[in-house]
Amino acid sequence: MSKVKVALKARSYEVLVSRGILYRLGQMIERYKWGSQIFVVTDPLVNRLYGRLLRSSLPCQMLLVKRGEAAKNLKTLSILYDDLVKGSAHRDALVVALGGGVIGDLAGFLAATYMRGINFVQVPTTLLAQVDAAIGGKTGINHPQGKNLIGAFYQPKLVYIDVETLASLPKRELRTGLVEVVKYGLIDNASFFNFLERNISSLKSVKDLDIWEKIVFESAKIKARIVSKDEREAAYRMVLNLGHTFAHAIEAVTHYVTYNHGEAVAIGLVAASKMSQLLGLMDAAEVNRVSKLLTSLGLPTLVRGLSLAQVAKALQLDKKVRDQRLNFVLPQGLGRVIVRDDVPTEIVQQTLKEIGCQ
Ligand SMILES: NC(=O)c1ccc[n+]([C@@H]2O[C@H](COP(=O)([O-])OP(=O)(O)OC[C@H]3O[C@@H](n4cnc5c(N)ncnc54)[C@H](O)[C@@H]3O)[C@@H](O)[C@H]2O)c1
Ligand SMILES: [Zn+2]
Repeated sequence: MSKVKVALKARSYEVLVSRGILYRLGQMIERYKWGSQIFVVTDPLVNRLYGRLLRSSLPCQMLLVKRGEAAKNLKTLSILYDDLVKGSAHRDALVVALGGGVIGDLAGFLAATYMRGINFVQVPTTLLAQVDAAIGGKTGINHPQGKNLIGAFYQPKLVYIDVETLASLPKRELRTGLVEVVKYGLIDNASFFNFLERNISSLKSVKDLDIWEKIVFESAKIKARIVSKDEREAAYRMVLNLGHTFAHAIEAVTHYVTYNHGEAVAIGLVAASKMSQLLGLMDAAEVNRVSKLLTSLGLPTLVRGLSLAQVAKALQLDKKVRDQRLNFVLPQGLGRVIVRDDVPTEIVQQTLKEIGCQ
């Protein structure tokens, strides 16, 4: 069992990473007295796969919501409030989020707002949720006008990760999570980046659990450290947006259909690297290593048939535009990044050309 602490004074908590531990969560909740009435929020698929294992030590009520992003809205949340009220949930009730990032964000916001905040525990079951969404306390739901428009920073009591759950993930979901893993290597840890390059063949499926445990743990360590320094994204936490400024623009222009989030971020990581190269922050060989790693994981690194003008316009709308300036998180070689708000328009345009915009 590996442990990493998210250090946030009174709101500190641990991220536990291991395998074959789902059946033991109940003992831990009991030991720390995190809640007497337990409500597990999950979706029907995850419930079928892991519900029974979790329940074996956890006397709880299961609250099922529909699968996927479409469930992350006010209507589902409202049904969950009704369920808690019907179940006579008191202040000492505990919400457990069992599932991907959608379940974690939704159940986290439920816990943040029910009776002004009750305890919650994250049990992430997708790679993206294990390395990213479950750690850091961002919770929330979508509004018809925009993703994650309604939400709160609300930290869990524990993030409990069983990497065995990754074995049932579809390959595309696995790749989506791996992009964030590559991102951590680029942001913070060149030797972790090397490790990923050396183990590409093991990353294509979930067989070697030692490797997956290491990947999830190293990623969790990096995310935990960044969140501990800047819980509310005042400044430093922004480095986690590496590749995301470009990705959000690409996702918007392609109406969230052509690429999933991970695929758009893969292209975004290459775009940020190419921009760094144009600014003299990264050399060609390093940029090639980024593209090569992503390509060998089966991810796209270029866009097809997108208009440069449209992507440039979408970039301007990105929420990180402050005082008319666009912030870009840029790799400085491998394992280090800086944030720049002074990138000349010509460099932005040249970068978009290099990733295939026309
Ligand atoms: N809070 C944050 O900091 C943060 C960070 C990144 C992303 N997010 C959010 O996370 C969401 C995306 O999360 P996601 O990629 O996990 O998608 P998801 O939650 O939609 O899960 C993807 C699918 O995988 C299924 N699934 C879950 N675990 C499984 C398993 N072990 N085996 C087989 N299938 C399984 C689910 O039923 C679901 O259909 C988005 O809403 C995004 O906004 C939040
Ligand atoms: Zn992301």
